[in-house]
Amino acid sequence: MAMLVNLRNLLEHEIEDLYSAEEQIIEALPKMAEAATDRELKRTLKEHLRITKEQKKRLDQIKKMFKKETVSEENSSGGFLERMFGEGGTKCKGTEGLIQEGEKIMAEEMEPAVKDAAIIASCQKIEHYEISGYGTARAYAKELGLREVERLLATTLKEEYTADKLLNVLALNKVNLKAETSGGTKASPSTAARARGTASKSAAPKTASKKAAGKRSR
Ligand SMILES: [Fe+2]
Repeated sequence: MAMLVNLRNLLEHEIEDLYSAEEQIIEALPKMAEAATDRELKRTLKEHLRITKEQKKRLDQIKKMFKKETVSEENSSGGFLERMFGEGGTKCKGTEGLIQEGEKIMAEEMEPAVKDAAIIASCQKIEHYEISGYGTARAYAKELGLREVERLLATTLKEEYTADKLLNVLALNKVNLKAETSGGTKASPSTAARARGTASKSAAPKTASKKAAGKRSR
């Protein structure tokens, strides 16, 4: 791998990482939608697959923009990305690990409603990871004055926040409650309240990410 000498190199590295993440998510989402039993969850995951394909196209646009600039700068002698990763790019190990974790839990024997809750949790972990990656990349693009790149990244970042929020609402208003009472378990009101408290806590990273994003945009 070529040496990263400046923020621009780091941004290009991050874009490759995000590209790999989206590719892996495009492969994983149909399996998650297939494993889900709640119709609304299935629909949400399928819709996110469509959105993810658009996000990958945006990264393609950014990569093309970088390549164009690098080729003209280096007089067709090959760009930084080629020197750094070769033709095949790099694989995002973070996303790979999160997807593997999700597959591991989905392979467990469990009630359908519990599996739905587990699928949402896995998806949200991936969303939070993407929010972090896109937030960082957008901040770098802003710092470097790459307006169009910043705009494309901000569009995707907004979509990731929306997806996370949709999954959160689905979990808190429906899926977690169904999982709580599945398998013939009758929850007492206090148990239900505790469950809601736990679910609310799962929203904390989202809030924290928003705060962080707010700071970044300043
Ligand atoms: Fe994404």
